[in-house]
Amino acid sequence: MLLREIKNIFHSELDVLYGKDEVSSFFYMLIEYYFNLERFVLAIQPELVIDKEQETIVFNALSELKLERPIQHIIGSCFFMDMDFKVNSHVLIPRPETEELVRWILEDNRKDELALTILDMGTGSGCIPISLSKHLPNSNIFALDISLDALEVANENNKTHGTKVEFFQADILNLNLNLNTKYDIIVSNPPYVRELEKEEMQKNVINHEPSIALFVPDEDPLKFYKAIVDFASKHLKNKGSLYLEINQYLGKEMIELLLKYEFHTIDLKQDMYGNERMLKGIIR
Ligand SMILES: C[S@@+](CC[C@H](N)C(=O)[O-])C[C@H]1O[C@@H](n2cnc3c(N)ncnc32)[C@H](O)[C@@H]1O
Repeated sequence: MLLREIKNIFHSELDVLYGKDEVSSFFYMLIEYYFNLERFVLAIQPELVIDKEQETIVFNALSELKLERPIQHIIGSCFFMDMDFKVNSHVLIPRPETEELVRWILEDNRKDELALTILDMGTGSGCIPISLSKHLPNSNIFALDISLDALEVANENNKTHGTKVEFFQADILNLNLNLNTKYDIIVSNPPYVRELEKEEMQKNVINHEPSIALFVPDEDPLKFYKAIVDFASKHLKNKGSLYLEINQYLGKEMIELLLKYEFHTIDLKQDMYGNERMLKGIIR
């Protein structure tokens, strides 16, 4: 079948669901991922034919897209900080906003030779500590998650990227870590979406991403942050920094929380969409 005919089928079946541009982007991602075909291939080879086996692969992907399965789950990977991360239904798909958080940490700690001790709390695919480790190769980086399935994915990504992050299982809400370790940096992107915000979310997120990674109860939306800020206030070195991705609607409450634990030089930062999404504080 002609590749351009398949592209037309993608548009006729999926445009109503995703819009034309997104469908084009899915189509090109798939042919690049599966067949190593660059996106300009149709411009230079409009009569390109793919074989039956290849047809089956793209049509399977089309069926999954109709069910609103995220494209990253279909191809099993996602780009983050110019690196390819394995993802599956046990981990949150790394978001561009989180990349901004990582870039902020790197801007503040630019020198490659720095040997920092860093902890990431609620690591998912391991995208935060692994990308930090690539840029700060002399640092000792630790990362925890409650989900063993997520840690398996994180460990695989660690291997793929040749990084030496130490992943371990722990519950943020019931931490019992070695009290002797002190960190220069603690970073976290914990669950922060209130149940009441579910309506704003796309169906493919709600149905396919792990709810343990996303949701918090309406009556206690800061429950993870309270535990993390309390832990950080005791386990950061003098002048150590806490970096958090936060719920855009709870910036004021988050600043109050950091002040309560005597963090100073608190900086609330907007993401690329103008939402107050990142927070940093320094401990005395
Ligand atoms: C919003 S996701 C962030 C994942 C990853 N850091 C990222 O930015 O893509 C939150 C992560 O926290 C983990 N998590 C949820 N509850 C937890 C708990 N009680 N203790 C530790 N980790 C938890 C989830 O498994 C999930 O991987």
